[in-house]
Amino acid sequence: MYNLLKGKKGIIFGALNEHSIAWKTAERAYEEGAEFVLTNASAALKMGNLSVLAKKTNAQIIPADATSIEDLENLVAKSMEVLGGKIDFVLHSIGMSVNVRKGKPYTAPNYDFTTKGWNVSAVSFHKVMNVLYHKKAMNSWGSIIALSYMAAQRVFPDYNDMADNKAYLESIARSFGYFFGRDQKVRVNTISQSPTPTTAGNGVKGFDGFYAYADKMAPLGNATAADCADYTIAMFSDLTKKVTLQNLFHDGGFSNMGVSDAVMEQV
Ligand SMILES: NC(=O)c1ccc[n+]([C@@H]2O[C@H](COP(=O)([O-])OP(=O)(O)OC[C@H]3O[C@@H](n4cnc5c(N)ncnc54)[C@H](O)[C@@H]3O)[C@@H](O)[C@H]2O)c1
Repeated sequence: MYNLLKGKKGIIFGALNEHSIAWKTAERAYEEGAEFVLTNASAALKMGNLSVLAKKTNAQIIPADATSIEDLENLVAKSMEVLGGKIDFVLHSIGMSVNVRKGKPYTAPNYDFTTKGWNVSAVSFHKVMNVLYHKKAMNSWGSIIALSYMAAQRVFPDYNDMADNKAYLESIARSFGYFFGRDQKVRVNTISQSPTPTTAGNGVKGFDGFYAYADKMAPLGNATAADCADYTIAMFSDLTKKVTLQNLFHDGGFSNMGVSDAVMEQV
């Protein structure tokens, strides 16, 4: 390991179980010398096994619903207390569509479900940054990352309203990133990750199909959750200080492909 995050303090949202991208990122951050707080919604803490990760990475768990400003204010205040100072990195690894869960098609959603999913998957990122910004909780040259997916730019029919949520999320990264950069020298980016077999990923109808398709299309194959953790660590490190307002594709080259030999052979 490279001690890339030695002395750095962070908050990691969204580790549910050992398949979660946030789980792998926490393991890597720990290996690189970081100290951090783990957080998730109370319901997820009951469902998953976050305490195993907390023990392994010497981290405290502070529950927070990322759609609640009150919870986020408590989380940020307590994290600074526990970590003994301001924050250097934050991972927003949160996504959920009620329409997907309930099998509602894109063309006939339940709009209350649409609003709930949008709030959890996209607006929560604005809320997290709002609290960090107003509490001046981030150190200069800190790094904030949210995870996205390419359905923000291109059509993947079964990704449903999560496509719209990801487009909104990426826009928030740019818009809030401007103010965070200008006023506090903090960078904000999204990483657009390959399909990854996690609880959220497997919840999307036809996941196996588009996982296999992306894998055949990408010259380097799909990026795994562990690969994503490595990239995120690089983005938290001091080696990427002038990267901000970007949506960074981390997908083995998929996003720039038209067609590959492997896909041609199949069709
Ligand atoms: N799996 C994929 O194929 C894939 C691809 C690209 C991007 N992503 C994104 O990566 C991120 C992490 O997802 P994952 O694939 O690791 O799945 P995951 O199911 O392990 O993680 C999703 C997390 O969101 C949390 N969450 C849901 N509602 C919340 C709330 N109100 N407050 C706080 N946390 C809440 C869940 O508890 C869970 O820990 C998501 O943004 C997802 O959209 C996933």
